[in-house]
Amino acid sequence: MVQVGNLDISPPLINASCAWASDLKQLQALFDSPYTGAVTTRTSTLGGFAEDASHTVAFASSSTTSINSYGYSPHKLSQYLTWIESIILNAPSTSKLKPFLISITASTADSMQETVSAIQTLRAKSPALSSRIGIEFNTSCPNIRGSAPAGYAIAELASVLSVLADAWRADPSLTIGLKLPPYVHGGQFAGVLDALRGYSDAQGRNPIAYFACTNTLGNALLFAEQVGETGTGEGEGEAFAVPTALGGVAGDALHPLALGNVLSFARLLEVEGPVSGLRNIVLVGIGGVTSPEAAARMRKAGAAVVGSATLFGKEGVHAFKILSGER
Ligand SMILES: Cc1cc2nc3c(=O)[nH]c(=O)nc-3n(C[C@H](O)[C@H](O)[C@H](O)COP(=O)(O)O)c2cc1C
Repeated sequence: MVQVGNLDISPPLINASCAWASDLKQLQALFDSPYTGAVTTRTSTLGGFAEDASHTVAFASSSTTSINSYGYSPHKLSQYLTWIESIILNAPSTSKLKPFLISITASTADSMQETVSAIQTLRAKSPALSSRIGIEFNTSCPNIRGSAPAGYAIAELASVLSVLADAWRADPSLTIGLKLPPYVHGGQFAGVLDALRGYSDAQGRNPIAYFACTNTLGNALLFAEQVGETGTGEGEGEAFAVPTALGGVAGDALHPLALGNVLSFARLLEVEGPVSGLRNIVLVGIGGVTSPEAAARMRKAGAAVVGSATLFGKEGVHAFKILSGER
């Protein structure tokens, strides 16, 4: 069991936010699996994302690698809140207290305020809900046209992060995590911690309970022949794996970078002083966790919890049995 903020995650294996955690049936299956310790929803927004045929995913034929062009969920946050309430309240009383991590995103302080208020209103309804619902702020989707992943300029997120920090100060039982993009140099890791240090309280506690590292690596390209399909490009030799050509790569191809991100944060957090409030941040290692060995590497790099999307997409919830070492 791993404690993440006020949530207990047992076993410390979860699905990463993704297109296969999008609807009620998928969320229920993840909740019912004995091999997942929490359920992470697909990222939702207040109004829902306008999804079309250009938003899709493809799997490489030679490794457990994916490329996707999805934005956020077409389902609104309010829909997720209804689904989660019904799953939790209908769970048999003998079932474990498995939590939900509600993945959300917002680009303005006002929309974050509305988002957090909606989640807090649900949590306030009963102890069964308040003790099992956390927030994961996705700062890192690489597929939103005209909008760079905010996690690459985290200092500019101050007004949005302040809303989360205020919500936590008003109710420290709220567990908040940040889904971060894959970083590629040391200054970026230090920059994340610098941006968060100021939110710690006098007791040395910080509103952020965990980092989920990492999201997909954007602007990647796989050709159609690499995913065993005829593809969707225009001219000969230009058939791409996804219609947008460029997308976020994940799975095996992302694994070394994701491991490096987890290790980089683990090393920096270890040397944080007691007053900074940052050293209790838990690392959720995501990226190329496609085998029990890869999960073990994530833990060796410093992850207390590991998560998977690509293998889950390929295998369904059975993926978590595979990752737990059972076949
Ligand atoms: C099809 C697909 C959809 C995804 N959608 C989301 C999302 O809605 N929110 C999010 O934070 N990450 C999303 N991700 C990223 C995953 O959570 C994860 O960070 C990434 O895929 C790396 O993990 P993996 O190597 O196990 O796939 C998505 C990934 C895939 C493959």
